[in-house]
Amino acid sequence: MAYETINVTEMSPACGAIIEGIDLSQDLTNRQFDEIHEALLDRTVIVFRDQDLTPDQQVAFARRFGEPQPAAVSGFEKSKDNPEIDILEYDVENPPHVTRDLWHTDFAGTERPTMGTVLYAKDIPPRGGDTVRVNMAAAYEALSDRMRAHLEGLEAYHDSNQPYGVHVRPEMYEADKGTDHLLEERKHYIPALHPVIRTHPVTGKKGLFVNESMTAFIKDMDRRESDFLLRYLFDYLRTPEFQYRHKWKTNDLAVWDNRLSLHYALFDYTDHRLMHRIVIQGAVPHA
Ligand code: SIN
Repeated sequence: MAYETINVTEMSPACGAIIEGIDLSQDLTNRQFDEIHEALLDRTVIVFRDQDLTPDQQVAFARRFGEPQPAAVSGFEKSKDNPEIDILEYDVENPPHVTRDLWHTDFAGTERPTMGTVLYAKDIPPRGGDTVRVNMAAAYEALSDRMRAHLEGLEAYHDSNQPYGVHVRPEMYEADKGTDHLLEERKHYIPALHPVIRTHPVTGKKGLFVNESMTAFIKDMDRRESDFLLRYLFDYLRTPEFQYRHKWKTNDLAVWDNRLSLHYALFDYTDHRLMHRIVIQGAVPHA
């Protein structure tokens, strides 16, 4: 599609684009939204600079992509009037327990991982706090034919509790942190089984669908085979050529497609960082 209503600047060969020429606080025409959607499918993550949005306006924009996930699904603090908005607020006294340090796809451990995420930067530290995203279709395409054939048809279990394991986030298990709810949730939770190679439902592109935060083991493999293969894939997915690293500015609004991407939010800042996040419900992944 030739863009007529927005300017799209590609940020790395693999993914990422800055979109200019649009004010998301206004009602968008169908043509404007179609172009934004097309840019998202093409670039996996798109960022709009200098947006001045109320929470209602952020929700209205997010709804153009689909239904926000019910508030109860995530454990983040919610915006008072807009419970679909997760408040991600950190500084050195309150480091991010959930989003830091582990490559992940939002809610991959559920039967229907999210379609996408709409993240609005309300306050960004002067240095640090970047987010890196990986295009999983680019990663898949760069695999050898032999490796692609080997991965074809495999399925892996994704465990939402894994990133909260005592060996991963020991600070959460200190006596005063209150982890009862994690232990309680673990009792009722069944890990989700997803194809290791997923087909994007709109573009038809294939991509890898594993992440080191939640992907626990590959079905029908010996444990050591599974560990070995997953470790290889997690290392492979760190290849810089598949990435775009976004340096946030306050009032940036990013949308990313979770169906074939990974991200990693750096915790290398001491100043305040505040983001308003809405995740969009997704469908059951298919091979
Ligand atoms: C997320 O992991 O959903 C948030 C990423 C970020 O804070 O940059």
